[in-house]
This record gives sequence, C-alpha cells and structure tokens, in this order.
Amino acid sequence: MKKYCIILIVILTLNGCQTNTNNTKSNIDIINMKVDSLLNIMTLDEKIGQMNQYNGFWDVTGPSPKNGDAKYKYDNLKKGLVGSMLNIRGVKDITAVQKIAVEQTRLGIPLIIGNDVIHGYKTLSPIPLAEAASWDLKEIENSARIAALEASAAGTNWTFAPMVDISRDARWGRVMEGAGEDPYLGSLIAAARVRGFQGNDLSKHNTIAATAKHFAGYGFSESGRDYNTVDISKNTLYNIVFPPFIASVDAGVRTFMNGFNELDGIPATGNSFLQRDVLKEEWGFDGFVISDWGSISEMIAHGYAKDGIHATEIAIKAGSDMDMESHLYIKELKNLVNSNKVDVKLIDDAVSRILRVKFELGLFDDPYRYLDVEREKEVIYHPNNHKGVLEMAKKSIVLLKNENHLLPLKKENQTVVLIGALANDNNSPLGNWRTNSDDNTAVTVLEGMKAYPKNKLIYRKGADVNLNDNGVVKFHEKVKINESDKSGFIAAKNAAKNADVVVMVLGEDGFQSGEGRSRAKIDLPGVQQELLEEIFKVNKNIVLVLMNGRPLNINWADKNIPSIVEAWQLGTQTGNAIAQVLYGDYNPSGKLPMSFPRSVGQIPIYYNYKNTGRPGPKNEVFWSHYSDESNSPLYPFGYGLSYTTFEYSNIKIDNKTLSIDNSINISIKLKNTGKYTGKEVVQLYIKDRYASVTRPVRELKDFKMVKLSPGETKTVNFQISEPSLRFYSANEVWESELGFFDVYIGTNSNANLNESFELTK
Ligand code: BGC
Repeated sequence: MKKYCIILIVILTLNGCQTNTNNTKSNIDIINMKVDSLLNIMTLDEKIGQMNQYNGFWDVTGPSPKNGDAKYKYDNLKKGLVGSMLNIRGVKDITAVQKIAVEQTRLGIPLIIGNDVIHGYKTLSPIPLAEAASWDLKEIENSARIAALEASAAGTNWTFAPMVDISRDARWGRVMEGAGEDPYLGSLIAAARVRGFQGNDLSKHNTIAATAKHFAGYGFSESGRDYNTVDISKNTLYNIVFPPFIASVDAGVRTFMNGFNELDGIPATGNSFLQRDVLKEEWGFDGFVISDWGSISEMIAHGYAKDGIHATEIAIKAGSDMDMESHLYIKELKNLVNSNKVDVKLIDDAVSRILRVKFELGLFDDPYRYLDVEREKEVIYHPNNHKGVLEMAKKSIVLLKNENHLLPLKKENQTVVLIGALANDNNSPLGNWRTNSDDNTAVTVLEGMKAYPKNKLIYRKGADVNLNDNGVVKFHEKVKINESDKSGFIAAKNAAKNADVVVMVLGEDGFQSGEGRSRAKIDLPGVQQELLEEIFKVNKNIVLVLMNGRPLNINWADKNIPSIVEAWQLGTQTGNAIAQVLYGDYNPSGKLPMSFPRSVGQIPIYYNYKNTGRPGPKNEVFWSHYSDESNSPLYPFGYGLSYTTFEYSNIKIDNKTLSIDNSINISIKLKNTGKYTGKEVVQLYIKDRYASVTRPVRELKDFKMVKLSPGETKTVNFQISEPSLRFYSANEVWESELGFFDVYIGTNSNANLNESFELTK
C-alpha cells in the first residue's frame, strides 16, 4: 500500500480526495490536472507500460510463474509495465493482480481490468442481435445494466462492448454481437447499451467503462468472411457505418476498439484517418482506443507493415492508444521514441487518455473498489437479474408466421411433442461471446414447457445439431456438424404422429455464430432440415422454434410450416421465455433487426438499398433483378407478427411544407383487430427523393411502441423536423437538402401508408 500512497499524495494534493465523474466541467478539469501531474512523474517506461494490455492466463493466485511467456508478463507487471489486463475474472484473481500493480510497483498505478461482457456476465441475456429485435431501448439498457452489476461485482471495470458494427451479411458470424443492419436503430441501441454499462456516474463501484467496437467497417467484410478485406465508399462509411459510433460518443462511451479489417487498403489499427482525424479530432473523443487482439502485429500479415517495429510506429501514429496482446508497444515504442521516430507527445497523449479513464472509474480513489467478495457473492445470479433477463428474452422473440392460430398453444388436454436436440440443450441457448459465464446454465425449452403440466409433453431428440455432444463446445473449438445420423428420426416420427401439436426446436449450435464463425450456407445445419420434412409428413401441426445467431435460410419452412418463431439464443432464461410465448402468457412483439434472405445469393440484402437507374419490377429483362430469385427478402427488416392483428389507417400530415426551423406532425390510426392485447412497433420511414448523393429507397427515422387491447384504436403521432433529414452529402458535411420527401408508416420496412412533404428554407 506504501507506493500507492506516494502517488496519491502527488495527485490528491490538487483537490480534496474523492472524485466522481458526473462529467461536470470542474470534475473534468480536476481529472485533467491529476492526469498531468501524474504524467509529470512518470518515466518513459512507465508511460509505455500503461499502453500495454496482457491477457492473463497463469494461475494468478498460485505460485509465481518460473518461465516462458507467463514469467515475462508477470515480471513486467511487477515492474509497472502493464496498464491493463483482460480475461482475468473474479474478485480473488483480480485482487491478486491489482495488488501487484498497486503495492509492488514504483507508482502503484492501478490496472484497468477489461473483459468481453457482451450479453451478460454470468446471468446471460439474449445475444445482442436478439435484444435488438425487441426494439425496446429501456429493456436493452437494463440488460446492459444487469451485465454491469454482475461484472463489476466480480472485479471487471471495463467491457469490450457494445459491438456497434452494422452488417448486411448473414454469413458473417459476428452479426450475433451487433444490432443488425440499420444505422438508426443501431445508434439508439448503441447509446442504450453505453448508458446501461456506464450509468450516469462511472466512479460508482457498479458501473463499468464501455467500448464502441470495431472502428470501423468490420461488418462489411467481403463475402461475410471474418477478418476479410473491407472496401466501402465514404458515402457508406459515413451514412451507414459511422452513426452508431457517433451515438456512442454522444452517449459518453469511454473507449473505442479498432478492428482486424482493412478499410480502403489501410488496416483499421493503422488508420489515422479513422482514429485521429475522425474520432479524436472531428468527434472530439477524449477516451482511449484499444487495439483489437494482436491487430497491431497483424498489420505485417496485411502487408502494411514491414515488421513489428514498423507496425508499432504506424499504430501509435494512427492513434491506437493501447496494445492488446501484440506485445509490441512494450518492446518497440521506447526505441522508436529514443531514435526520434515517434514523438513522445504521442505517448503522453495516449497515456493521458488511459489515465483519465482510470481516474473516472475511481480506481485512484480506491483501486480495490470493485473487489468485494461479499458483493460478488450477493450480486452474481441474483434473482432480480434472472427476472430482468427473462423480460429481455421474451421481448426478443419474433413471430414469423402463425397460420390458423396454431399459436398460442392451448394449455390443457393437448399432447405436445417436442423435438430437436436444441430443445433439451442447456448450453447452446447461451449463445457465443459469454467467456465469463458458466456452461450448461440455460433453462432448456423442455424445462420451460414443463411449467404447463396440464398438457401431455413428450420429448424426442430426433437429431443432433453437432457432434461435440459428449460435453460442450468451447469458445475456441470448431463445431462439428452431424451430417449423417438419422437414427433418432423414427422415434421422433412415431411420437409426432399422434400429437395435437409438434414443437420443433431447430437451428444452430451456440458456437456456430460469433467470431471466426462465418458460414457460406445458412441453412439449418446437419440433418435438421430433413428431420423437419420427415416430421411434416406425419403431422402438419408444427410450430418451428428457431435458435440461431444470424438470419437463416428457411424458405421451405416458410412455405410449409404453419407457425414459425424466431427465438435466437436467449441466454439463461431461454426455456422460460419460449414456453411463456408459445403458451400465450407473453404476446410476441419483436421485429427483425436484419432482413432474412431467400437465398445466400441475395446477400448483402438490406431494406435501405438504392433505387438504381433500372428499378423494377418490369416485365422484361433489362432491369436490376435476378432471373432465378425475387429481389425481396423472405422477411424484411422490421418484420414481426403478434397473436393479435393490427390495422393501420388514416395517415394524416398537418403540413405539406416543412421549413428548416419548424416541425410537422404526421399521424396514423392503429386498431387492434384481433383477440389479444398486444404491442406493435409502429415504424416511420422516409425517402429523400433526390439529393447530391443518391439516397436509400427508405430509411427508418422513428418508431413507437404502442400497446392496445382488443378493439382499441389509438392515434399514433410522429414529429418530423429538419435534423432527422440530414445525411453526409456531396459537400462532405452532415446536412439536409431542400426538396421532396416521402414518408411511409407501417408494421415493417414495407410500410405502405404514405404521405409526402417538401423541405423549404
Ligand atoms: C475480438 C474483440 C474482443 C477481443 C478480446 C478479439 O478477438 O475481435 O471483439 O473484444 O478479442 O477478447
């Protein structure tokens, strides 16, 4: 504790003691003064140490490592040459490393402890793509809050989330981590998640710093292949990719992560246009940028850096402030400064940014503030967390099809046959990116359905999804798909024959989406499609429940199966959420955040496409279309049904002219024409008819969640004003352009009630 006191004396003489970070001007000034005074007493080695982040993998509470990489890292930690660690979890282990940093180094600067807390820490909420389907910003914020409560109680004070990459490509495995294809919805969700993680005071012991990642363009990897080249226009970069990052900065996100991808020939990690010009200059971001894992050294493989020394020089000059696991800053930066290749001012700037966030987190006030064993025990898996993630899970479910009111299921006197390995799987529903969680902790669908005991419930596996079913597929393992074993078909068919209703839970293994999990075919893996068709031969009353981390190709099911429920991977409470929806105790209200293609050949497919000079449909050859497939998706962005039905009518605009400093009101009438109380996400899209750069056929600009009881009608009002019409124009500024706009309001991105107005001066 002695060393820690020395630096405290230096920095705390500047003001009283505690600092909180309600970002008031005086607080910011005080923190900046503390940062400067600390920087003044740091050696170059210590500064570079702050820019160094290690993965922690040795037994930190065991004997100190004697050799190899672990010893090297451990020694550097003791010398004060490590600013942050990731993948160390739990109060006991984090206390052990924090003690070394604080009590054994010259300055005792506390570590910032990062982890991928993507959709929960131990109690898991749905995968982020699923949460996005709720369109419920409060619930999404609360879900991030729960994650922050648990993570912070277990010693983590920094999450590498939210992932805010827009993607139009279902082949890309990392779509499960994001909010889908739309920049507007994506921006609102990014901000909600940042608020949820960071709260309104970062210095509280139960809030954690968030990271907007991956800056930028990673979601546009060519052919949906992870880590692949990204080559997009400035127009797409600004109008589609940037908005959620801007929203994150506006919400006060404290860190950014760059990406593995190159953008227009320059790796994101070495891209000073992105990190310096746009992020730090244009947007005024004063937090710090962490590289992605090893992405500084990967610039060599990209063919952008000659060697490690060169990669280091490029990365620091481009604005990457902290090195995650390339081990290059700590090896090369000092020489680069001493040989005048890198200006020490760049180091000072990076270190100031890192220290600032550490001050804001309150780590200098008390480096052990996140490290309370009692709190850890109390908060992890708290019943309130289960309650919260269950709410989130129910809201994330999207009803894709429901013919003849097969759903909701009747609660009595029915024989329900449940089929599919995923129905009895307590691991896959947890999804990917849950490195802190415990395996096998999901409530299965089978367990969830048992809560309705007045029906007869029979379970048959039918077929496996994968072959690693001796235990659990791990984060780093490849999922081996079972292509051949149909031995369970007969038992499943025999049971299904006499069922009133068959519920089939099919889809992907939990580790079939996520990083490194791109797929060229996005059908149901293994023999599941065949199983579905076989069961259909003996019983047509099938409810298909999909569990997946991306849009799937489900054309056959859409044509043949009466009811389809998109349940994604819903986390710890999966089985309860699905059962409550199937039995009608929760009326589904989710809407797709990504288009579902009819075939892989349509990808990238998205609702906000450009019209082209040859739009259709036309009864001839020379227009922009496929000769063997429709242009439209199977299910469009924003699509989702309810057990009730809604009727849209009476679109009204109060003024056909919108002047720059005014707003206009546009309304519709929404009636619940069905038998159940339900919620509808009423969506408003705008088309800018012509502009200095071509604009999408329509863009989501607003939405409202409206709850109606049977027979009830409400008028739903939207205000439109000039700022929402801005885009990144040919002048390379965010502006609106005068002219005509069409407005569409409806239940999904094909909304057809429309009006128009003119924007004038
Ligand atoms: C991923 C990041 C993640 C990091 C640390 C990388 O492979 O791209 O999103 O935060 O690992 O786990």
